[in-house]
Amino acid sequence: MFRISINEMTFSCGPKVNVLQVARTQMVKVPYGCANGGCGMCKVKVKDGAYLLDTYSKQALTNEEREDHYVLLCKTYPQSDIEIELIKEKVIE
Ligand code: FES
Repeated sequence: MFRISINEMTFSCGPKVNVLQVARTQMVKVPYGCANGGCGMCKVKVKDGAYLLDTYSKQALTNEEREDHYVLLCKTYPQSDIEIELIKEKVIE
């Protein structure tokens, strides 16, 4: 199990489950829509850590964003502890 930090919230996530799925079961408030890599609503920035990204729509996440360590939570599988930053305009109060 890896430790996932999203802003001040922390929870555990294994390498075979996507981060969005675990965040939802842990009642961690993160933005999302389709939960299938198509809408981009769950886009966040990884500040630190290793991860795998499953297939997703290029409209949801561009190559430039990916190179800049943006990910889609619904397609992100942790490979180490990860520190994530929510995109400011998407923070849920
Ligand atoms: S929720 Fe739609 S891309 Fe992740």
